[in-house]
Amino acid sequence: MALIAPSILTADYLRLGEEIARIATADWLHLDVMDGHFVSNLTFGPAFCKAVTGATALPAECHLMVERPQDLLARYAEAGVRRLIVHPESTPHLHRLVQEIHALGCEAGAALNPGTPLSAMQEVAEDLDLLLVMTVNPGFGGQAFLASQLRKVRQAHAAFPDLAIEVDGGVNEDTGPLLVAAGASVLVAGSSVFGPGEDPAERIAALRRATSTSR
Ligand code: DX5
Ligand code: ZN
Repeated sequence: MALIAPSILTADYLRLGEEIARIATADWLHLDVMDGHFVSNLTFGPAFCKAVTGATALPAECHLMVERPQDLLARYAEAGVRRLIVHPESTPHLHRLVQEIHALGCEAGAALNPGTPLSAMQEVAEDLDLLLVMTVNPGFGGQAFLASQLRKVRQAHAAFPDLAIEVDGGVNEDTGPLLVAAGASVLVAGSSVFGPGEDPAERIAALRRATSTSR
């Protein structure tokens, strides 16, 4: 059974407490941190994340789409986040960052942009708690799913069968089953959970139903 990690990127920030309460049946809460440099969009910082982690019993993960992630790890760890996910495209020192994340008491994840090959993980995979395969180019919610990345999910699951494989971007009831069949075990879902007029709890239940028999 795949775990579901809603991203609050497209939630209603004016009603954030209520929005978070509506995803209580999820498994994780996914926080998309963007700095306007690594990706062109800009979202939120550690104080915002701290407010979120204080408002939910769900474990939270920060997906750090930022330049110089090494400068920020401690701040997000202090915000009460359980898992920190960094991009190898943002640092020449992925191995060191993974050690630093663990030293901060967090789980360590690494995220691959669609254009980055799985081989970028070869030397760190044994130290990771999770590998995130981006199924859109990072920066915005609501983008179209890149089916080409199913191959990378399959490769990742075959190469690292004991590693949790997370997918992020365009995940919904249509793409979720394909991803789970390919080897994904954690599904990030943004706009399919927090879409206009949607009931997030119902959307999570529908995604669970759609993916429960996929592997
Ligand atoms: C994209 C973010 C995703 C995003 C997913 O840069 O990393 O987490 O919120 O949104 P959807 O599910 O709408 O593609
Ligand atoms: Zn994300």
